[in-house]
Amino acid sequence: MTIVHMKDIVKRYGNQLVLDYVDLDMVEGEILGLLGPNGAGKTTLIHALIGLIKIDAGDIQVFGTSHKGNSLDIKRQLGLVTQDISIYEDLTARENLEFFGGIYGLKGQVLKERVAETLSFVGLSEYANKLPAKFSGGMLRRLNIACALVHRPKLLIMDEPTVGIDPQSRNHILETVRELNRQGTTILYTTHYMEEVQSIASRVVIMDQGHVIAEGTIRELVERIQHEEKISLEVAEVSGELISRLKKLNGIKQVIQKGNELQIISQVGAGNLDRVLAIAREAGGVRSINAEKPTLEDVFLTLTGKRLRDGEAE
Ligand SMILES: Nc1ncnc2c1ncn2[C@@H]1O[C@H](COP(=O)(O)OP(=O)(O)OP(=O)(O)O)[C@@H](O)[C@H]1O
Ligand SMILES: [Mg+2]
Repeated sequence: MTIVHMKDIVKRYGNQLVLDYVDLDMVEGEILGLLGPNGAGKTTLIHALIGLIKIDAGDIQVFGTSHKGNSLDIKRQLGLVTQDISIYEDLTARENLEFFGGIYGLKGQVLKERVAETLSFVGLSEYANKLPAKFSGGMLRRLNIACALVHRPKLLIMDEPTVGIDPQSRNHILETVRELNRQGTTILYTTHYMEEVQSIASRVVIMDQGHVIAEGTIRELVERIQHEEKISLEVAEVSGELISRLKKLNGIKQVIQKGNELQIISQVGAGNLDRVLAIAREAGGVRSINAEKPTLEDVFLTLTGKRLRDGEAE
């Protein structure tokens, strides 16, 4: 069953077209990974979905109901884990959950039980009476997630819930997401981290500059570029001449430099591995060379010419 249907969504800020006729559909029970670099429009799309901002054009249906701004019935079934942590510093973990549960109309014994259950679910029971000021980054993220869960939403929207935390906390959060999904929660999961999408999402939507540029299962997306291979080449020294000679080879689609390493996207079967090796040897020596099958990261790179994460731009 389709529970989110967004069609031809347009959003402008001043002259900037932030969402350019975007479509997004979600079916009940899935974990949809929403991927895109900084500024792609992911958070704006989420804000449109939950009715936090007004859109300039388009149609939004959530749980089969047209979503025009303020529908409490819809909001009660949604949970939002915000990109910026939004908890109250001067309330304990438990009080934070009581506050958010209260907003959704929970009270008395039910509220108490839900709060205890949710704290235990995110592994914070021991810290129920502590103030967030003493929490690590990972604990804050977990509390932020708990605040969005206490009213047991049918659709949970997570906007980059693992930014800036240690691997252990990240694994804990990913396991939480899987468990919620097993229990029947539909999840929209936004991230820059390809590995996260590969490990939890059943379907992926890739956005760039206000457009949806690809969507499908991970397998479908990778198959799209199966006719390409990635050659990673490490050389003693990278020169402009080396790059331009490589770019002139038949079947080479992209050459991306990262320090002494070059990533070369080539058509499969063009026989370029030998040629790349020969050119690099002439240019002063090869430290290593390696050809790989494409990953989701490469799909993204091929579609946008960009890396997903900050600081990894070419
Ligand atoms: N309230 C606003 N006023 C003006 N411009 C905005 C506003 N909100 C977002 N934008 C612009 O819209 C574009 C998309 O922003 P958005 O936050 O949706 O991107 P994002 O994909 O969530 O990026 P990130 O990965 O950094 O969170 C950006 O260029 C941003 O500067
Ligand atoms: Mg964002």
